[in-house]
Amino acid sequence: MASLARGIGFFQVPDMSGKLAVVTGGNSGIGAEVAKTLAKRNATVIIASRDEGRMQAAVDAIRKESATAAKNIRPIVCNLESMRSIKSCADQVLALDRPLDLLVNNAGRFLDAPFQLTEDGFEQTHAVNFWGHAYLTLLLLNRIVEAGPSRIVQVVSFGEILGRVRMHDLRGAREGQSGFPSYCDSKLLAYIWLSELQVRLRRAGAQVDCFGTQPGWVNSRLMDKVDFRYPLSVPAHYAAKLFALSPKYGCRSTLFAATDPSLTGKGVNSRGVGAPYFGAPYPLFSLPFFFHTASGPAWNSQAHNESLRVAVWEEAHRILEETAGPGLPDINLTLTAPQTAGRSL
Ligand SMILES: NC(=O)c1ccc[n+]([C@@H]2O[C@H](COP(=O)([O-])OP(=O)(O)OC[C@H]3O[C@@H](n4cnc5c(N)ncnc54)[C@H](OP(=O)(O)O)[C@@H]3O)[C@@H](O)[C@H]2O)c1
Repeated sequence: MASLARGIGFFQVPDMSGKLAVVTGGNSGIGAEVAKTLAKRNATVIIASRDEGRMQAAVDAIRKESATAAKNIRPIVCNLESMRSIKSCADQVLALDRPLDLLVNNAGRFLDAPFQLTEDGFEQTHAVNFWGHAYLTLLLLNRIVEAGPSRIVQVVSFGEILGRVRMHDLRGAREGQSGFPSYCDSKLLAYIWLSELQVRLRRAGAQVDCFGTQPGWVNSRLMDKVDFRYPLSVPAHYAAKLFALSPKYGCRSTLFAATDPSLTGKGVNSRGVGAPYFGAPYPLFSLPFFFHTASGPAWNSQAHNESLRVAVWEEAHRILEETAGPGLPDINLTLTAPQTAGRSL
């Protein structure tokens, strides 16, 4: 009965006492719901986002609902468009000197950024949706491994279907594009990179599970921040008000992937392919209660091309080192899994 209920989308977040989680973009929409729920279940939650005031406002709003949850939340500024800011955030997390049980890479940009390069030379949407998260993940990776069994969850999107890997321009910097194409390309890149990370973590013996999620169509501030110069933004904005899920339901696939005990050890399938993708199948993605626990492959065939995955990983590593300097963990060589048999997230 319980597994039938879970199969159609019902689950409970377990007690998370003693766990440390980082949720990027945890001040708004899906991320705020994820952070609040984890904190209500007694996890210590760092919300990592770009604006101190908006993060504090989110904690104040949570306090009205649950003083305990608010007490468990700590904001740390992390502008994912800036390597410097990401490094400073990671340093503050590392300074806590605690294993990191859960990293939820949730922050994202959609149609709100006309073409512009960040200070590090990345197109902005690529910077937030892919590069910033990849860098943050690598900076925190040893702590995540230490916590094993632990998890990394990447919020992807239906946009991955239309994404294209442009090996000659993974920064998204050369073609001058922004908006929807950048959104789709960056979400696909994030998912491909995560899959390869999972494969490498397993090969290194680490007990870390990586999951991608698609939240459905959610009426969050993402839909208000659209720049009306993009043709798609008008229907995206108004239709979301009428038909999309509230963040309360849009967070469910991510919460499930982040916490459900049945998923421990399930980051790699029997064919050695990494990072299962959770969320209602795309045609059903606006049903509020159902199928957020469903899993399946990403729809874009590029996500299943092993040599492309490896090429993206290697090129991304080269670009990150070129931009941020050496010192990122080479996970094939340096990681050693701790002895944590018997624990589950
Ligand atoms: N809404 C949907 O229908 C939908 C569908 C598929 C996937 N998603 C994905 O779900 C995730 C969460 O989005 P949401 O719908 O909850 O939208 P949201 O309410 O706008 O949340 C996005 C979060 O990302 C943060 N963010 C944006 N740029 C950032 C930066 N440079 N550095 C750090 N944080 C930054 C935002 O901070 P600010 O508050 O400062 O802007 C906000 O906290 C995104 O990855 C999105 O792509 C959403």
